[in-house]
Amino acid sequence: MGRIIIKTPEQIEGIRKSSRLAAETLDFAEQFVEAGVTTEFIDDKIEEFIIAHGAIPAPKGYHGFPKASCISPNNVICHGIPSKETILKDGDIVNIDVTTILNGYYGDTSRMYTVGEISDAAEKLIDTTFHCLDLGIEQVKPGNRFGNIGFVINRYAKAKGYSVVYEFCGHGVGIDFHEEPQVDHASRRNTGPKMKPGMIFTIEPMINQGRPKANVDEMDGWTARTTDNKLSAQFEHTILVTETGYEVLTDIHNEYPRT
Ligand code: MF3
Ligand code: CO
Ligand code: CO
Repeated sequence: MGRIIIKTPEQIEGIRKSSRLAAETLDFAEQFVEAGVTTEFIDDKIEEFIIAHGAIPAPKGYHGFPKASCISPNNVICHGIPSKETILKDGDIVNIDVTTILNGYYGDTSRMYTVGEISDAAEKLIDTTFHCLDLGIEQVKPGNRFGNIGFVINRYAKAKGYSVVYEFCGHGVGIDFHEEPQVDHASRRNTGPKMKPGMIFTIEPMINQGRPKANVDEMDGWTARTTDNKLSAQFEHTILVTETGYEVLTDIHNEYPRT
């Protein structure tokens, strides 16, 4: 193996800056998320913000992806294409996923937003998904195996009556958009490579109310929806393995300790 990049201190600093900008972009986007707004409008604002800060939105042109961010409402699991046809309405839940390239370095983060009053069921799904990411992050320390991230996430999601999407994964990130390793969100205990200081990767669990299977839209080639049209939620952070634990590089609100 040895294909997982160990980042140098200089690279870590560059990825930290890009990660912070990606997280700031998610905060900036919040003011535009309301009923009646198109996801294309939100994406335009996101693109302007990223460019105004001297960076590039990584999704644009990535394997032909047409927009600056992924915006995925309700039954869309991930890779929703911002569109003037997609108008947010009261009760919607929506994930916005932002990846920035700043001075050549990538930062990748996403979170859920709500439109007006959402159902108790939607709120419970969002809370559970947020906690799944927390549990995954707590597994990050030198010597631990990547499979333990997906083990704890899957165990918790299943206990709450949900399913874990297995067709999309977290990933190494920083020098490139998607690097090794693949970070599964449902995996077996003590499997996979060991984490080492200087590795940087995302954890980005997608949790479904119903069946775990994703259906990719045949027309646009991107939009991944639940097969039963039930809700899906996702949160994503970019995480550095430190000498003793982790640093969440996209955590600009100090929600996580530096362990
Ligand atoms: N940001 C997504 C991720 O978390 C990837 C989006 S690829 C795109 O890995 F092309 F759809 F933007
Ligand atoms: Co990612
Ligand atoms: Co992302």
